[in-house]
Amino acid sequence: MCIYNGNRSYLNVFEKEVTMKFGHFDDKEYEYVITNYNTPLPWINYFGQDGFFSLMSNTCGGYMFYKDAKLRRITRFRYNNVPRDYGGRYYYINDNGTIWNPGFLPMKTKLDSYMCRHGLGYTIFESEKNKLECELLCFVPLNDLCEINQLTLTNNSNETKNITLHGVVEWCLWNAVDDQTNFQRNWNIGEVEVDDTTIYHKTEYRERRDHYAFYHTNVKHDGFDSDLDTFMGLYNSWCDPSAVLNKTSYNSVASGWAPIASHMFKLEIKPGESKTIIFQTGYVENPEDKKWEKLHVINKEKAYELQNKYSNEEQVLQAFNELKKKWVNLLSTLNVKSDNPKFDRMVNIWNQYQCMVTFNMSRSASYYESGTGRGMGFRDSCQDLLGFLHLIPEKSRERIKDIASIQFEDGSTYHQYQPLTKRGNADIGGGFNDDPLWLIAATSQYIKETGDYSILNDPTPFNNKEGSEKPLIDHLRASLNYIITHKGPHGLPLIGRADWNDCLNLNCFSKTPGESFQTASNFESGKAESVFIAGMFVLYGKEFATILKNIGNDKEAADILDEVNAVEEATVKYGWDGEWFIRAYDAFSNKVGSHECEDGQIFVEPQGFCTMARIGERLGYGKKALDSVEKILTNDYGVEILHPCYKEYHLELGEVSSYPMGYKENGSVFCHNNPWIVIANTVIGNNERAFDVYRRNCPAYLEEVSEIHKTEPYIYSQTIAGRDAKNYGEAKNSWLTGTASWTMYAASQAILGIKPDYDGLMIDPHLPKEIKHAKVVRVFRGVKYNISITNNSSGKYQMTIDNKSIDGKIIPYNKDLTEVNVNITL
Ligand code: BGC
Ligand code: NOJ
Repeated sequence: MCIYNGNRSYLNVFEKEVTMKFGHFDDKEYEYVITNYNTPLPWINYFGQDGFFSLMSNTCGGYMFYKDAKLRRITRFRYNNVPRDYGGRYYYINDNGTIWNPGFLPMKTKLDSYMCRHGLGYTIFESEKNKLECELLCFVPLNDLCEINQLTLTNNSNETKNITLHGVVEWCLWNAVDDQTNFQRNWNIGEVEVDDTTIYHKTEYRERRDHYAFYHTNVKHDGFDSDLDTFMGLYNSWCDPSAVLNKTSYNSVASGWAPIASHMFKLEIKPGESKTIIFQTGYVENPEDKKWEKLHVINKEKAYELQNKYSNEEQVLQAFNELKKKWVNLLSTLNVKSDNPKFDRMVNIWNQYQCMVTFNMSRSASYYESGTGRGMGFRDSCQDLLGFLHLIPEKSRERIKDIASIQFEDGSTYHQYQPLTKRGNADIGGGFNDDPLWLIAATSQYIKETGDYSILNDPTPFNNKEGSEKPLIDHLRASLNYIITHKGPHGLPLIGRADWNDCLNLNCFSKTPGESFQTASNFESGKAESVFIAGMFVLYGKEFATILKNIGNDKEAADILDEVNAVEEATVKYGWDGEWFIRAYDAFSNKVGSHECEDGQIFVEPQGFCTMARIGERLGYGKKALDSVEKILTNDYGVEILHPCYKEYHLELGEVSSYPMGYKENGSVFCHNNPWIVIANTVIGNNERAFDVYRRNCPAYLEEVSEIHKTEPYIYSQTIAGRDAKNYGEAKNSWLTGTASWTMYAASQAILGIKPDYDGLMIDPHLPKEIKHAKVVRVFRGVKYNISITNNSSGKYQMTIDNKSIDGKIIPYNKDLTEVNVNITL
């Protein structure tokens, strides 16, 4: 038996003198500006809001898709490629034999200057080589299904330049999995149509598809290519395409093989002159009876409409300004100005932005998620709503309904669905017993934000079966009931395949290499229990009881509170280890996450959730648990998920023990659960520690150690390797993580303490001493609250509204007001 002895020191990376930055924040423009293209990993951005989405890296790499990155991929990207991040929308500038790209790749020609400005829904490259300047503005307009790339070349030299410019995208044959696997078919089916300004990608349009894509320019080109091998030359690559090297185009018309779209321009640019070309990649759907203009010629009406909408610079500028305005508006829902600029920039800009992206993508498409494996997660999307809801409540309502529609009548759920079909994904199945409870988390938050209880009456099907619709509230009942009817020997909830920790597979017992830990269960013990789910049940069970009381169902509320008490008692009795909460009981009723274990003695998840649920509060459990978290699990980058890491594979624990020590679920800082510790610390009133945990993995604070941390300094990553890992401090899986949403929740609702509640807006700040002043603007149910917080750390709370003293911490909602001025002193 080995217990943590308190001897493990921090590496103090933050005390290094050299900073390792690759750019800087431009808060005024809401941008992160990358000035060194040799970032430690591709640093990416997202475009799109409703249907057309793009990923864009700092080298112009990435891809586009319509709604579903698996089923409707528009352009091709090869994950796992060598070299990394090749494939995007590329612009080759051939200036008298010097060939370069505004995003550095693919040519890797050293640029005289380079800037990649990742903004909210757009990216701008500003580069220069040999006194030729290039500005490339890329974005997806608000209401249209296309990506705009506006390229401007300016000759800053004293001589006329003759430039050959190639723009190119590579089409994906729609289904991204087939595209990378079914070559015997794929190399026969590629079809295009070509004219002077546009290449239309119409593979499979002749048969069952009702959609095509196109790559268009607003001016007539001087040549084109639509066949990859012809454009490249068979043994060439993106670094030396034959057409580009030879300053030409072969006017190839793809037939089978790999269809691409490339337009070539011969440009004469005088000293001081600028030339602009607008490139557009678009997506069009046609109804069955309007697919064709004539035999084999597609109906291009809608494509022409899209092309005409962005055919000059004014139109592009207007669309770009609308996009920017939309974001400024969205972000004005919540804005803070405190004496801590890093905190402000994360809350005001990047954290909210990331919440939008996780709302849109769930865990489907990033540089770490291939877009083919995972769709919309039940638990993931529910949690994503927590940080997104205040931005667009209407979208959240629709999402809640989509998610609830993959639930079964007994309350259990599919784990995921495909965004295009919205049907539960049978390959992944279900049985993750935390899933149902997240629906209560999302729905209750929706009601608190909007005050709109009518969502509870929304007819919502089970497993998308027509005729099975029941009011949404019945789904919430089913969720709770599932837990109540699935308890183990200690009266704690059964874990099923796994709970939030996908990798704690207590019924899996897998010995077969490659078998999925997520879907296999070789030993249905019916015994393994989760203390984490117990915490969730207590927290969200109480929440549901409050909702029931609010709608006048007192009796049902009381019954639920009885169930909550039973689980709470079981947790106090069997879920406490002495200094922290136990994690689980395995299939043999042995403890997991106890000092009695050799490895995995303490897990972070129940410390956060059981403390948030106030389990054992009178016995001081929360406080003790969080002290243990601080002492045992905290490193430079936050709180590690467990300690000690598993050294060996444990059949009875599953995937968690499959990872090398310090990585992912086996001991990294799994950032998603760090905000739980932040919130839990505010629950017990430890504001300093709450902020300390917040700060440790806050991207803006890690900017100066970018070379170690590696992922984007403006975005949360899923994991940061723990102290036992070889690459301690290295982050992975940026962007698509529940960290975004939970941190947004922690920062706004726990640290700033601006909490939407059923009857009004609660203001209960838990600021650290270092934040003495904060002015917050929060638009809540259409009313604008100007909240000024003065933090004297006095332990006393005082609120005045329009200079009148108020009892309590809730500002009752009054729909007749438009603006409310609130002063808080602490
Ligand atoms: C990962 C988990 C992830 C799961 C999803 C596992 O391999 O470790 O973090 O949630 O796969 O399928
Ligand atoms: C990633 C998954 O998306 C999420 O649902 C899960 O909770 C974490 N991994 C932890 O395993």
